[in-house]
Amino acid sequence: MFVFCLIKKGDSMIQVKNITKEFVSAKKYPGLKGAIKGLFSREKVRKTAVDDISFDIAEGEIVGYIGSNGAGKSTTIKMMTGILRPTKGQCIVNGIDPSKNRLDNAQNIGVVFGQRTQLWWDLPLSESFTILKEIYNVSDEEYEERMNFLNEVLGLPDFFDQSVRTLSLGQRMRADLGAALLHNPKVLYLDEPTIGLDLVVKDKIRQAIKDINQKYKTTVILTTHDIGDIEELCNRIIIIDEGRKIYDGGLQELKDTYGKTRKVTMELRQVKEAEKINWTEKLGTTEDKYQVTTDEEKNQLTITFEKNEIQISDIIATIMEVTEVKDIQIQETELAEIVKEIYNHQFQSEEIAE
Ligand SMILES: Nc1ncnc2c1ncn2[C@@H]1O[C@H](COP(=O)(O)OP(=O)(O)OP(=O)(O)O)[C@@H](O)[C@H]1O
Ligand SMILES: [Mg+2]
Repeated sequence: MFVFCLIKKGDSMIQVKNITKEFVSAKKYPGLKGAIKGLFSREKVRKTAVDDISFDIAEGEIVGYIGSNGAGKSTTIKMMTGILRPTKGQCIVNGIDPSKNRLDNAQNIGVVFGQRTQLWWDLPLSESFTILKEIYNVSDEEYEERMNFLNEVLGLPDFFDQSVRTLSLGQRMRADLGAALLHNPKVLYLDEPTIGLDLVVKDKIRQAIKDINQKYKTTVILTTHDIGDIEELCNRIIIIDEGRKIYDGGLQELKDTYGKTRKVTMELRQVKEAEKINWTEKLGTTEDKYQVTTDEEKNQLTITFEKNEIQISDIIATIMEVTEVKDIQIQETELAEIVKEIYNHQFQSEEIAE
């Protein structure tokens, strides 16, 4: 209750301040002998899964929390939901420290872990919802209003009477999302909400998240390996790598800053003529700034080039000196490429730090 008084109205919905999580586990030794030795050894290994991360999230934001396998995403979500206590630092969600006040915090949050269900496996879905209504003290009127909305965006009536164990993965995920939202939480945590789903169900889940965010101003934090989720849902992304925050900002900004290359593909009358071009000389550049490939069968030429160095008009003009251009296609670097390069440490860390 004391914490409530400290947080003023209008503050962020989520404040994460220098949180760190260290896991301590017994040292493992290789082989059977090693396993036995391990039983008696007191040697411990420390692993810093989350390393001094801070960020603020305002009410109504949808934030993508991304990073490669083992980067520390789930561990951060677990600290924000109160499942894990930070080794250092603090996290305040809607005025509450989740690790100190799990019950009050539970009223404020909804959680979906894509990898496992929170529902009662053997009960019909309808009964799971009835139990959750009681647990969260949802009034009859609220329940009705909420269910009307959830039924509409998630299509729950199609399988409401089936037991959870008989649901398909896509149905189960819609059910889990519905269950997490029944008590109208201020914050929704989604840990890989579209994992393993087909494109149609993915689309439904994404649309439902958008609708919920718009109608109820629900704040959403989502971890995913699916770049489509990010592009469809998030204006802001936080990227973590080996437990540290390496990017926090807009999606467009990330693309503008790190999407340095463009790709142009042209269908030509005579690709053989274009193969004779000395691009370095014609474009007044160096060989590392572009890459040319041709497909003689299709009469196609593709150039990937650094957009700050080379003008696309110069490329087209050079081609037109030797042959006719029949068709042209220009592509920006895809977000997936940028993210992959960031995960592969291809950018200097100073470059991507805030
Ligand atoms: N309970 C635990 N005990 C020891 N180490 C743990 C524990 N939980 C997580 N870790 C370790 O902490 C690191 C971060 O794990 P975490 O699950 O947060 O990664 P993640 O970013 O969610 O990865 P993924 O994309 O694979 O889900 C990993 O190296 C993991 O092995
Ligand atoms: Mg995870």
